[in-house]
Amino acid sequence: MTGPESEGPQLRRAVCPGSFDPITNGHLDIIARASSLYDVVHVVVMINQAKQGLFTVDERIELIRQVTAEYGNVQVEAYHGLLVDYCKQRDIPAIVKGLRAVSDFDYELQMAQMNNGLSGVETLFIPTSPTYSFLSSSLVKEVATWGGDISHLVPPVVLEALKERLGKG
Ligand SMILES: Nc1ncnc2c1ncn2[C@@H]1O[C@H](COP(=O)(O)OP(=O)(O)OP(=O)(O)O)[C@@H](O)[C@H]1O
Ligand SMILES: [Mg+2]
Repeated sequence: MTGPESEGPQLRRAVCPGSFDPITNGHLDIIARASSLYDVVHVVVMINQAKQGLFTVDERIELIRQVTAEYGNVQVEAYHGLLVDYCKQRDIPAIVKGLRAVSDFDYELQMAQMNNGLSGVETLFIPTSPTYSFLSSSLVKEVATWGGDISHLVPPVVLEALKERLGKG
């Protein structure tokens, strides 16, 4: 057999999931490191209808595409459903996540064990760069709302998008 179906499973794939509302330098650091370890990295914006974001899912995807274009092996899309189903459908054996602090650990361990129990998918943790260990999308939005300087925490296009959305541009 030829074509993408026959080639797919030979490529080493991983998924980096999140809400990315919006993507920060902390996310980008993990994605960049995953992209050097795997042939293809699927960045997936998990849709959570109960959570109203600052950016729409399409806007988040567009920002992620722009800031990951340089890596060449990063694909971006949204998914509504269980992450393990996304992985199963695409034959992806690994989830890569960033670990910021002990506070991330309890929840991430639970999720990793649940996902492994559900489908056998493995979760690999990459320790955050110390520079970004305090960084989250929520914190960036909060600081930006009050006019604090976040230019060192997000890529320039995200900074512009935040200024525009928050009426500070
Ligand atoms: N600064 C960071 N360093 C390393 N990993 C990070 C960082 N920020 C987020 N991540 C990782 O990115 C993944 C997706 O996280 P998520 O979309 O919840 O981002 P978040 O910044 O925590 O957003 P929120 O504040 O909305 O919870 C998680 O695995 C998370 O650990
Ligand atoms: Mg979070």
